[in-house]
Amino acid sequence: MKPSPYRPHAQLLVCTHLRTASDPLGGGCGARGEEVFAALKERTRGSSVWVARSSCLGLCPQRGCTVAIAPAMQYLIEVEPADVDEVLSAAR
Ligand code: FES
Repeated sequence: MKPSPYRPHAQLLVCTHLRTASDPLGGGCGARGEEVFAALKERTRGSSVWVARSSCLGLCPQRGCTVAIAPAMQYLIEVEPADVDEVLSAAR
């Protein structure tokens, strides 16, 4: 193991986890997360802010999705595509 020579300014982890509708934690961020992921990827192309899909981050909002911002490890919930500017501001 060794440290990577590549390091982003920030990395956004977008939950796209999908559960069954009957799960007591709800249906998961699923498609809502995919919409936010696509919007963030579009806005960060070629930048030093990296975006990746993630499985469940443990917060499971009933609307929108969860986004974690590393390295600050700030967690945002109920994130919608319209929130992309605010998410990017939080990451900078
Ligand atoms: S399903 Fe997205 S945070 Fe749990």
